[in-house]
Amino acid sequence: MDILRVNNLTKVYNSYKGAKEVVALDAISLNVSKGEFVGIMGPSGSGKTTLLNILSGVDKSTSGEVIISNKDISKMKKDELALFRRTNIGYIFQDFNLLDSLTLQENIALPLILDKVEPKDINKRVLNLMSFFDIEDLNKKYPYHISGGQKQRVAAARALINNPSIIFADEPTGNLDSKSSNNIMQTISRMNKEIDSTVLMVTHDPFAASFCKRIIFIKDGKIKMEITSNGDRKRFFDKILEVQSVIGGDN
Ligand SMILES: Nc1ncnc2c1ncn2[C@@H]1O[C@H](COP(=O)(O)OP(=O)(O)O)[C@@H](O)[C@H]1O
Ligand SMILES: [Mg+2]
Repeated sequence: MDILRVNNLTKVYNSYKGAKEVVALDAISLNVSKGEFVGIMGPSGSGKTTLLNILSGVDKSTSGEVIISNKDISKMKKDELALFRRTNIGYIFQDFNLLDSLTLQENIALPLILDKVEPKDINKRVLNLMSFFDIEDLNKKYPYHISGGQKQRVAAARALINNPSIIFADEPTGNLDSKSSNNIMQTISRMNKEIDSTVLMVTHDPFAASFCKRIIFIKDGKIKMEITSNGDRKRFFDKILEVQSVIGGDN
């Protein structure tokens, strides 16, 4: 079953009078099925951020369709889209976005509080996820009490709290050192394997990408190539480097 279907997605920036147009996405079509872990890679300026912003409903396309769980989000009105995003989409941000004045338990619960879920159901779900990520002892602690690795697991738990049909991750290894990068990727990989979460991740980092099952390379707003993993991460890493040497990496 396809969780995400993208048809002929095009984004043109500055298409108003007099300004120079930038075609950031040029007729992109792709599908992501349930339980997949897909990476989007491409050189700087290739359209990765634009694509993720449109798929996650943060930005609007110029034309084309974005269908998540059989609903076309490109046709939704503002309120409908906001509700859809809260109930169907999970996000993992580079900088975790945890709120310092809330406990970790409250941080994870926050997306549900907005939707008036029963407090006892919220608690049950939060504690379940905290136990899944081995952070159940930290429920009353605050973000400044915990390590970077623990913060990542809190952020992952929060992304899963609404039981999303798809999780979007934007450069999750960003500026992290190799140990933290490994931690966050192990966490995302576990979500994908053990909870069957569907994940779409944008990254310029071949190490992070090596955890994916499939990678779509874009350049100049177009899909250039797609590669799949046979499960051997080291081999997939080498494959990614090879494609990057042809298409161009980031930075
Ligand atoms: N808000 C904007 N206005 C005009 N052009 C933009 C805007 N955002 C991105 N672009 C342009 O669109 C292209 C794709 O950018 P982006 O999606 O940020 O690529 P990437 O994330 O792969 O580096 C680039 O040429 C960039 O300069
Ligand atoms: Mg970007």
